[in-house]
Amino acid sequence: MMNLFHLIFPAAASTFGTPFDNFSIFLLVLCGGTTFAIFCTIFVFIVKYHHTTGAAEQFPLRKPQVLEYAWTVIPLGIFFFLFWWGTRVYLQIESVPAQGLPIFVMGKQWMWELEHTGGQKEINELHVPVGRAVRLTMISQDVIHSFYIPAFRIKQDVLPGRYTYLWFTATETGRFRILCSELCGTNHSEMTGWVTVMEPTDYEHWLEQNASVAGSIPDHVDDGSLVELGREIFEKKQCVSCHSKEGRAPSLIGVYGHEQFFEDGTSAKADDNYLLESIVRPSAKIVRGYPDIMPSFQGQLTDREVRGLVEYIKTLSGDQL
Ligand code: CUA
Repeated sequence: MMNLFHLIFPAAASTFGTPFDNFSIFLLVLCGGTTFAIFCTIFVFIVKYHHTTGAAEQFPLRKPQVLEYAWTVIPLGIFFFLFWWGTRVYLQIESVPAQGLPIFVMGKQWMWELEHTGGQKEINELHVPVGRAVRLTMISQDVIHSFYIPAFRIKQDVLPGRYTYLWFTATETGRFRILCSELCGTNHSEMTGWVTVMEPTDYEHWLEQNASVAGSIPDHVDDGSLVELGREIFEKKQCVSCHSKEGRAPSLIGVYGHEQFFEDGTSAKADDNYLLESIVRPSAKIVRGYPDIMPSFQGQLTDREVRGLVEYIKTLSGDQL
């Protein structure tokens, strides 16, 4: 059975493998078995009750109530069971752990750009350690893409103007395919890459090797980590001239992860998407007690610069500014 299954799906290499595959196999067997049983019954009835046999006339019509209840209640029970099981697997995949190893993913026609917190950048390649939760924060520079690693059983749309997330814990070392599973233009089918899962010590070594390369080119805004880039932008754009205590705009110290209250009476937790929105569409949510005066930085900053600002603002706590 497993070998047959792996004709359709590749061998699983993440912690989602077993729950996802068990559920899929159960669904396949259930649907296949039901279809088979229905067609067998149709075939038997066609032969047995064909009008030339006269069989139908031998049985007077009656209401087989027990049978009717049975074929209503049993499938209903099965559907509820599937709902419960599927929800469990779904929630496991959707519950992104906050403390996972952060990786920034940018999709663009037609490549994947990946970045580690130390500033190590990769194109269509991703190096991660085995046995550790990895958390991907993803955005698109143009159209909708979809980040897909079949061997890890994960897939998530990557959208322009909004962050989406994925996470996984790889269970095996090796190289696994990255695909784009959303038709995104002419070279969609070439928007592929590889994840390399390494032993933790090898990964540390890889990080060190690639950090030296990134750090050796000074005075270029595209190098260094996202946080450093964010700090540069924050200073260059003079965000602090408004965003400070007693300033014209709310202080950003400790803003991340806290409830924000708005002029229209609503509130929301300041997550990554809230910070992103506040930079590119500042009028969308106006913090209570402040005027709607911030200009939009849409088009003035690259997606990576915006991401850097978000990462930098996330670090603001205590007595900076
Ligand atoms: Cu990107 Cu398909």
